[in-house]
Amino acid sequence: MTPLASPAWQALTSHGETMRKHHLRALFADDSERFANFSIRADHLLLDFSKQRINAQTLALLHAYADSVDLDTWKQRMRDGEMINASEQRAVRHMDLRAGQLAPPEVKAVLGRMQAFCEQIHSGSWRGFSGERITDVVNIGIGGSDLGPRMASKALAAHQQADLKVHFVANVDAADMAPLLARLNPRTTLFIIASKTFTTLETLTNAESARHWLVAAAGSDHAVARHFVAISTNRTLTAKFGIANEQVFEFWDWVGGRFSVWSAIGLSLALAIGWRHFEQFLAGARAMDEHFFSAPPENNLPLTLALLAVWNTNFLAATSHAVLPYSQSLSLLPAFLQQLEMESNGKQVNRHGQALDTATCPILWGESGTNGQHSFYQLIHQGGQLIPSDFIALRTSDFPLPGHHSALLANCLAQSAALAFGRSAAEVRAAGVAEALIPYKVFPGNQPSTTLILPALTPATLGQLLALYEHKVFCLGILWNLNSFDQWGVELGKQLAGRLTPLLAGTGDASAFDASTRGLINALRSS
Ligand code: F6P
Repeated sequence: MTPLASPAWQALTSHGETMRKHHLRALFADDSERFANFSIRADHLLLDFSKQRINAQTLALLHAYADSVDLDTWKQRMRDGEMINASEQRAVRHMDLRAGQLAPPEVKAVLGRMQAFCEQIHSGSWRGFSGERITDVVNIGIGGSDLGPRMASKALAAHQQADLKVHFVANVDAADMAPLLARLNPRTTLFIIASKTFTTLETLTNAESARHWLVAAAGSDHAVARHFVAISTNRTLTAKFGIANEQVFEFWDWVGGRFSVWSAIGLSLALAIGWRHFEQFLAGARAMDEHFFSAPPENNLPLTLALLAVWNTNFLAATSHAVLPYSQSLSLLPAFLQQLEMESNGKQVNRHGQALDTATCPILWGESGTNGQHSFYQLIHQGGQLIPSDFIALRTSDFPLPGHHSALLANCLAQSAALAFGRSAAEVRAAGVAEALIPYKVFPGNQPSTTLILPALTPATLGQLLALYEHKVFCLGILWNLNSFDQWGVELGKQLAGRLTPLLAGTGDASAFDASTRGLINALRSS
């Protein structure tokens, strides 16, 4: 059944019409217990969603809708390893990667190899071609083979290993790779080629350049074995690239790229933060898995985030969603979540290939606070568009300096309050503002937000946080009746780029392309 045809959805539609008329000011005035009524404490996390434009009936209707689509059955089907990614005929088993003692033997085996490798690099027993120890690791990957470890390495900078620098190269633009190579020493640099498919143009182009650089310095191909490892599901292509089987860390087609930071794709992260911390990261995610499967719906953090997203998107007509971490260490979280949420749920057809008749994933964007306050917050406050936000704050700082953290937290709370409650013309007038300026100084408010508070940013809490959003994405796929685990929309551009590459190099016939593309080819060729 399409969501639109469901009685629970229809009840939400008519309730939405009523709720659109309410201002958060009135919702707070009417309920002195609103914070207690609309917040969840679980596993040392606090989720305050009292500043969402909801009331008790909204939540009840949203939960009724979740029941009507058999969300619990789908959760179980995922956990049982059923092929819920039907269009790719794959199971969705990233939770198995962080299942600890309950992980499947093949997962434990790869984790064991990763641990041993980390110990060799950290202890210095792994040596480069000249006999020197490794000082720099470069992860070459893109999308899910880059964003997770890149974001998490930055997030956990306070927990980093001494004496090893980990770098990330993703873009096929040589401006990513070339300046880094210029700074590195080939004798002490290790490359990790991270690609689930091992067919990704950007990654293979960067990997070839890295190999040329290394071989030129070493004077022999033999050096490759001491300086290249691969992470992939495709051992045929890793061998073709010249990486021996024992230097390949495997994962499996049942791990989606954007859900793969827990797999061998996390090797660069494990090298950056050390094995003990990587295990804590997995354990944090496992704790969130346990919460997701055991907490009752009304206390379930991922489900609550997903229901609020459905509410804002489908019943209040929000088309974008801001992620605002008040943590510089989490500054790459919005970029990570862009892939996680939009590649998963930015879909036009349902699980059966039929056109969806409801809006799906909003455009997700964001920036760390307080930086964003000095650029785009103006639009959220006064731009006239409904923009729900997630504020994320840490109770204690990962890099304490006197005076900084209280100022950071004060700004976080100030912004969510200003967005929710605004400032009326009467308040502006009462503050003595000249009449002509009053329209400029009014803040309409009523911008919904959720605030998530983590006790601190540690490997474990980061694991919890990422798994929280992963499960939110899963729930949304079920609530929107789509497959969150395929990504067919990335294919067309890749195919066209493959055809355009020789044309830009000056060979081939461009006549099959449209006039605009032909004009651009000519302009680029002649420059
Ligand atoms: O183009 C999108 C995508 O397929 C993502 O889904 C994936 O994370 C990324 O490219 C990288 O893919 P791979 O790990 O196979 O190189």
